[in-house]
Amino acid sequence: MSAGVESRKVAGQALERVNSKGAFANLALGPMLDRAGLSDRDRGFVTELVYGTTRMRRALDHILKPYVKGDLDPHTLATLRMGAYQLHFMDTPAHAAVDATVSSAKKRVRGLVNAVLRKVAKSTPNYPSEAVRLSYPDWIVDQLVTDLGQPVALDALAAMNRPAKTNTRQDGYVQDPASQEVVSMVNAQPGELILDLCAAPGGKATGLAAAGANVIGGDLHLKRSGLMAKNARRLNASLASIAADARAFPVRPGQADAVLLDAPCSGLGSLRRRPDARWRIDRAAPARLGTIQTDLLRAAATLVKPGGRLVYSVCTLTAAETTDVVSSSGLVMDGDPVVSVPDDQSDGMWSVRLQMP
Ligand SMILES: C[S@@+](CC[C@H](N)C(=O)[O-])C[C@H]1O[C@@H](n2cnc3c(N)ncnc32)[C@H](O)[C@@H]1O
Repeated sequence: MSAGVESRKVAGQALERVNSKGAFANLALGPMLDRAGLSDRDRGFVTELVYGTTRMRRALDHILKPYVKGDLDPHTLATLRMGAYQLHFMDTPAHAAVDATVSSAKKRVRGLVNAVLRKVAKSTPNYPSEAVRLSYPDWIVDQLVTDLGQPVALDALAAMNRPAKTNTRQDGYVQDPASQEVVSMVNAQPGELILDLCAAPGGKATGLAAAGANVIGGDLHLKRSGLMAKNARRLNASLASIAADARAFPVRPGQADAVLLDAPCSGLGSLRRRPDARWRIDRAAPARLGTIQTDLLRAAATLVKPGGRLVYSVCTLTAAETTDVVSSSGLVMDGDPVVSVPDDQSDGMWSVRLQMP
């Protein structure tokens, strides 16, 4: 079997698992790629095919709709979607995309896949809405248009459909520039006691430790705090990793020079990194998480010493999880928030310093 056919076979199997078994694309793919023994180049191709097909699922189903009748089995559906993705969203030449995708399909459906993809190759999609064109659930588009205005929201949503650029810190940790800005906002100094209350897997906490501060990173989930401990060891960071609820953090109140609350959020600013997330998050998530964030922020404020610093950040841009949380916490912003809208360079992130007495 040629490498092109083998790659599409692996991609098709990964997509079937994501579509019908609810697997997370980023978790399912790694082990499958390892087992397949593909070259680095082919691994990159499969990753883009699986991530892209997952992101663009709604647009692809619209493209396929005129040419398929009735329900398709998971294998045929995954194969047609990835075929249409190559034809409309990748640079692969059409004949190569169709031939290799057809050959990767199970024998009994090759005729159907071939007939449909040939028609798809010649089609020009006519999308009924921006949500279909950009391939998001309606509620995400509506929510971001309400919170950011139409042009900014549509640009941000389009940017999150393109593959992520990787940014590597000096110490080798891969971290988005918007997250690095949050670390800068905390402005950690050597010898300071800094608490990072929602810290796993430790991206920001290890960045804070690199400044020479004594950092305690906590996370509610034991497994995730273990992951942070592993990252800290790998980077040789002076970071104590603990499992703790930010609402009952095991440090006496009023002791920390600075506290970072990088709160759990809907993640609508970093959808590009989690290609299936847009199909999982429910519309009630921003309001539900906003309420939790308010509790966490109030608890975080008690840990800061007089004159100390409190930074609150989230990787989303909804009002319910940013400005509304600050208002309902009773705290006051110290200066304007830093708002990073997702673009080709970075994820979406919202962060602010809060006034401390
Ligand atoms: C946005 S992520 C943190 C990312 C991390 N700061 C970084 O830069 O790598 C939010 C984290 O909050 C944790 N979390 C959720 N609820 C929490 C709680 N009540 N107390 C502490 N951590 C919590 C989640 O397990 C998740 O790891």
